[in-house]
Amino acid sequence: MPVTPLRTQATSEAQGGNSLDDFARRKLSELDRAHLRRRVVETSRTESIWMVRNGRRLLSFSCNDYLNLAQHPAIAAAAIAAIQRHGVGAGASRLVTGSHPLLGELEQRLARLKQTEAACVFGSGYLANAGLIPALIGGDDLVLIDEFAHACLWSGARLTRGTVLPFRHNDVGHAEALLTQHRGRHPRGLIATDGVFSMDGDLAPLRDLAQIGARHDAWLLSDDAHGIGVLGGGRGSSFVDGRVEVPLQMGTLSKAIGSYGGYLCASEPVVALMQNRARTLIYSTGLPAAAAAAAIAALDVIEGDPAYAARPLAKAKAFTRRVGLPKAQSPIVPVIVGDSQAALAASRRLEDEGFLVIPIRPPTVPDGTARLRLSFSARHPDHEIERLADFIRNKIL
Ligand SMILES: Cc1ncc(COP(=O)(O)O)c(C=O)c1O
Repeated sequence: MPVTPLRTQATSEAQGGNSLDDFARRKLSELDRAHLRRRVVETSRTESIWMVRNGRRLLSFSCNDYLNLAQHPAIAAAAIAAIQRHGVGAGASRLVTGSHPLLGELEQRLARLKQTEAACVFGSGYLANAGLIPALIGGDDLVLIDEFAHACLWSGARLTRGTVLPFRHNDVGHAEALLTQHRGRHPRGLIATDGVFSMDGDLAPLRDLAQIGARHDAWLLSDDAHGIGVLGGGRGSSFVDGRVEVPLQMGTLSKAIGSYGGYLCASEPVVALMQNRARTLIYSTGLPAAAAAAAIAALDVIEGDPAYAARPLAKAKAFTRRVGLPKAQSPIVPVIVGDSQAALAASRRLEDEGFLVIPIRPPTVPDGTARLRLSFSARHPDHEIERLADFIRNKIL
């Protein structure tokens, strides 16, 4: 029987490339043509809000370290002490030997802050959503998700292999209509939303979503990545107007907390179920001790000084007032420019003025809504916020 020779990699390269690289190059040129190509740019942080990029010192409005805790001396000291005591890496999954004592302490602190029975720490916020949603929801079940929800809520929802229905952004009426129509056909249902929307900075109507969730027996999951530490006295977006009962409160330790890692705050049985069913918890190495120690020290700062926690939102409000934009609801303020090329150009002009503001383009945001996404932190100087506001009002909008 004749044997067809295999095309070796060397042969393929000699002929000018291989299908893998050809595919990658074709995709990249499509992105280039649409002004949608991203590049990873080396950026070093000097003093929290100040960055060095391409050899220039810039004032960043594109960092989620809202409380400037990532470089706080007490928090760095806590991380260093934890490395000295527990080492650098956790060495194994939490279910094997990777659950060092700082993780339990951090979980107690998070549960206390969020007023839940228990908490569960994951390797990152993305891993939390990718693990917790499929641990609760299966192929026969229903997930309702806000159309602007963060990519990792979408990833978790899709991993369930259940029915995933988007509802119009913050449209509780639409969400309830979908529940009325579809909920009865599925054993379990979940409503997934950001608490603070990462690209728009607006808040989810959590109280109303909790009510329709209770009416239709659909569990509410709120991703509070951008709310913890900065809203509701530091407790997050479900504590802004009194406390809203959200049974699944997820978030990250990588933004206002200044460290790294993700969490779910929930009831004791739900957390115990995570330890048994959440694949991203079971089959991934535990969070390093230094990240947990830093997060605990950051919670000390936040709980000890609620006035400091309120500063990023106050700064964002000062900015929106001066530009004449709708009042900021969180430290995130979008300045919508429209097309991607215009957003890139606006960002370059701001860089000429000494500001680092990264443009956000589709598919992260819907087509035609490319934007500058500004994030305000406790230590942004007021006079720089005024200079930024005046430039955006006079030269960009
Ligand atoms: C709303 C939201 N959820 C989750 C995440 C992911 O968290 P992490 O960076 O810890 O993976 C992010 C951003 O990173 C986010 O903006």
